[in-house]
Amino acid sequence: MTGKSTLAALCLLAGTTHATDPAALQARNLAANCTPCHSADAPEPNAIPRIAGLPADRILQRLRAFRSGEAPATVMHQIVRGYGDEQLALIATLLASSP
Ligand code: HEC
Repeated sequence: MTGKSTLAALCLLAGTTHATDPAALQARNLAANCTPCHSADAPEPNAIPRIAGLPADRILQRLRAFRSGEAPATVMHQIVRGYGDEQLALIATLLASSP
């Protein structure tokens, strides 16, 4: 069941963008690294916070704080180090528009 709803959530995520738009495709591919952990299906309370639907500027601010080491983290500081500013902005915009 969980697998099915995860798939449904990913389809919903994909459905929020135009599949032919290269920036949207890139955003979807980049954010695919995030959704397995930040799944909307995860039960609350959960050590991994839900992020879909948060304002994009708040997501981006958190990601930059993780990358600079300013925000304490167990895993996020390592994960965001692999992304540039433009990539983080794309991911934040996509996740903000996700259900
Ligand atoms: C291995 C699991 C994992 C992956 C993959 C992951 N995260 Fe996280 N994320 C976490 C955890 C755990 C936290 C809590 C901070 C910490 O301990 O690192 C977090 C925190 C966050 C927060 C802060 C939320 C808040 O309300 O403060 C944001 C934003 C975020 N992650 C975005 C992302 C994005 C974007 C990606 C993909 C690039 C991603 N995460 C990939 C586990 C993950």
